[in-house]
Amino acid sequence: MKKTIIVTGGAGFIGSNFIFHMLKKYTDYRIICLDCLTYAGNLSTLMPVMDNTNFRFVKESITDRDAVYKLFEEENPDIIVNFAAESHVDRSIHNPEVFLDTNIKGTAVLMDACRKYGIQRCHQVSTDEVYGDLPLDRPDLFFTEDTPIHTSSPYSSSKASADLLVLAYHRTYNLPVTISRCSNNYGPYHFPEKLIPLMIANALNDRPLPVYGEGLNVRDWLYVEDHCKAIDLIIHQGRIGEVYNIGGHNEMRNIDIVKIICKELGKPESLITYVTDRKGHDMRYAIDPTKIHNELGWLPETKFADGIKKTIQWYLDNKEWWETIISGEYQNYYKKMYGNR
Ligand SMILES: NC(=O)c1ccc[n+]([C@@H]2O[C@H](COP(=O)([O-])OP(=O)(O)OC[C@H]3O[C@@H](n4cnc5c(N)ncnc54)[C@H](O)[C@@H]3O)[C@@H](O)[C@H]2O)c1
Repeated sequence: MKKTIIVTGGAGFIGSNFIFHMLKKYTDYRIICLDCLTYAGNLSTLMPVMDNTNFRFVKESITDRDAVYKLFEEENPDIIVNFAAESHVDRSIHNPEVFLDTNIKGTAVLMDACRKYGIQRCHQVSTDEVYGDLPLDRPDLFFTEDTPIHTSSPYSSSKASADLLVLAYHRTYNLPVTISRCSNNYGPYHFPEKLIPLMIANALNDRPLPVYGEGLNVRDWLYVEDHCKAIDLIIHQGRIGEVYNIGGHNEMRNIDIVKIICKELGKPESLITYVTDRKGHDMRYAIDPTKIHNELGWLPETKFADGIKKTIQWYLDNKEWWETIISGEYQNYYKKMYGNR
């Protein structure tokens, strides 16, 4: 059945991959991307779908109540998927305020719009970081949906706050919500200040590869397409009011990822430099995805060994995309595209 979906934050890494996935799979769906294009949003990422008649891009902030209500009136969406967020832990340590505005207040504005205009499903894209971290010497421990929230950074605290608000809107107003909490993603269109794309870009330019502390922190890596497929399943078949963890049982130490990238690109490990650790750096994240597997049949399809090769190849084939970002020139792109319209 035909549906209209508002995807917020769709000019960012995961949101753009989700838009590509949905437009390809559901040729009768209308997808509206609502994104205010912060430093992390890049309109050129959405070029492949800009001319698709089922797609519309709207440059507004989720914190702007009038703009969000206007969009709901115009489009009468069936589903909203909220990817829009300030997403970088390091930036949240330097300037928490914008994280509170976008990640908490923005989420509330979206849910108020859902209440006011009615919606079939309001899906909140959250993160495994809301559970805090696990000790390195307890590989038997994993985050389940029942693990208590125990955040470490302003970023994860703002995401956890949004999750609590979403669940409260369900309980109080009966809003049809779902939440997904995913582990670290990697893949095409990942902003080049995050670990994997940063290391690929620096290695290609023979620049130092800065690794926090000793690089022993463990993350559970998931290929971005697998995350998008999981959200697709949740918004269509997930139970209302439920939280679903998404992860690939693919734990890797940061240092080992950097070494794999060096090997794949034929670069020496001597490029690796150890830098002062992040404040409050979480040691290990590990998701137990049993619930989404048992209820919705979801399983990750891309193994890390294949996904990292595909990702590196993508960065080799799309140098212009990330070089434009590194130079800062991409921020003029919207002006160039829309300045005279
Ligand atoms: N990247 C990961 O590994 C990961 C893992 C789990 C969960 N998540 C969550 O997934 C979501 C997307 O993450 P990402 O890595 O694609 O982030 P990203 O930083 O690449 O993209 C965020 C997008 O949101 C937009 N945005 C920011 N503030 C906005 C606002 N006020 N109004 C409208 N748009 C706004 C930005 O312009 C950008 O396009 C986030 O909610 C994040 O918490 C990310």
